[in-house]
Amino acid sequence: MNKVLVLDFGSQYTQLIARKIRELGVFSEIVPYDFSLTRIRRDAPGAIVLSGGPQSVYEVGAPHISADVFRLGIPVLGICYGLQLMAHLLDGKVVPSRHREYGFASLEVTQRRGLLRGVRSGSQVWMSHGDKVSVLPPGFIASGFTSNCETAVVENREQTLFGVQFHPEVIHTKQGNKVLSNFLFELAGLNKDWTMESFVVNKIKEIHHQVGKRKVICGLSGGVDSLVTSLIVHRAIKDNLHCIFVNNGLLRKGQYHELMASFRKKFALNVIDVDASEVFLKKLQGVSSPERKRKIIGRVFIEIFEEEAKKLGIVDFLAQGTIYPDVIESKPVRGPSSSIKSHHNVGGLPKGLRFKLVEPLKELFKDEVRTLGKELGIDPDFIHQHPFPGPGLAVRVIGEVTEERLQILREADAILLEEICKARLYHKLWQAFAILLPVRAVGVMGDRRTYQRVVVIRLVQSVDGMTANWYPAESHLLSRISNRIVNEIDGINRVLYDITSKPPGTIEWE
Ligand code: XMP
Repeated sequence: MNKVLVLDFGSQYTQLIARKIRELGVFSEIVPYDFSLTRIRRDAPGAIVLSGGPQSVYEVGAPHISADVFRLGIPVLGICYGLQLMAHLLDGKVVPSRHREYGFASLEVTQRRGLLRGVRSGSQVWMSHGDKVSVLPPGFIASGFTSNCETAVVENREQTLFGVQFHPEVIHTKQGNKVLSNFLFELAGLNKDWTMESFVVNKIKEIHHQVGKRKVICGLSGGVDSLVTSLIVHRAIKDNLHCIFVNNGLLRKGQYHELMASFRKKFALNVIDVDASEVFLKKLQGVSSPERKRKIIGRVFIEIFEEEAKKLGIVDFLAQGTIYPDVIESKPVRGPSSSIKSHHNVGGLPKGLRFKLVEPLKELFKDEVRTLGKELGIDPDFIHQHPFPGPGLAVRVIGEVTEERLQILREADAILLEEICKARLYHKLWQAFAILLPVRAVGVMGDRRTYQRVVVIRLVQSVDGMTANWYPAESHLLSRISNRIVNEIDGINRVLYDITSKPPGTIEWE
């Protein structure tokens, strides 16, 4: 099959390897390192990549595979730990490096063929290893080296087994794409056939086949994944798709009406809008605990969703915006790739419902979903919007959630976003939002003593939301935001700036 299996040994770059391969035009899938030989044979991939990993191959308990993987006749590329494991299992030798090598290195090419065809000597590569291969397995040659590693590139061209000590998947390896392309196309003989157009055509066929003329429902959350899911299912089955968008009253200012208008007008989706803001507020009355807030919101959402589905008559299918990182089968290998998993239920969609699932984005990474969204006509601004938590403003009104508090927060939040956009900062930030505290402060406005509410401004930068840095905003921007909030919103007399990173803080306050 024209696809690549990436065996995950726990590297922080495993997902990047799979994405790079797809960007180069070949479908790739990540599977745990102990994916059995039988399953590999059944999958019949056109090539296998062994990822990096944080351990040493000679350590007790280090993740190993059967050496038979190398005898399947399937081309293999080992990266970092993957290379060391290949050498170790094929009777080479791996030892601790005299100098651990982290960061940039210069690759010297001794054979500009095979894996290194077209790669310049002196090309910058990214290294991150404490071990190295000191004795090559029989049949292998070293075709590239760095000052600290004589075996930076190793090849057994006859058996199509290859390895690199550096990381070709990271951007710091200047000719990384060339090395990967050489492996995929020149050495493994794969074809470029993974494109968004071919993906869409195939998905539409698949959905037709699965659903036929039956009804599908899809919950819209206001995020990218659920909208892209709806659009693709809509292309396949047109009006047999019924979308449901619930207004929980916890959205940002104007968000609900803008979203509804664009779902209907721009995309001609069949959307049932349910204004349940009062129900949510009522259930949240008197509740201050963040976890209880989340649970209540999740439950009410499910109840409404089930009720609406019932009204539609017989509905067999539920379309969900599950994306690839949610389904990667990979199980914990000690290392960063295993621990990065969000604890949040992002879509807020009911689990355990009686529907069969339609999940057209299940194979896609977030960036691919965005690209697909663009191709389906979604505005770039919508696609690159900041993440917004499922429980919405309920986790940003600290303490009890009331309509009055929500209203104040919505106004403050709207001013903040307006100024952030004006300052052309929006796309540099992971998130920008306001939080309303359950305390009051004394102030003086127009010779009058005030005793009003306190708002916190939070601006953070992050790559994946798992860690984040507070953003060192310029003082005149902060001052403009603070002046506008205090002057324009009745009920706020103090604005604070949150200078806490994650860890030790979290991005949201609750
Ligand atoms: P924390 O606050 O844990 O958040 O640093 C990390 C990212 O997740 C978002 N977030 C949520 N998303 N439901 C969601 O769908 C939630 O309950 C939730 N809580 C936090 C948060 O905005 C940030 O992007």
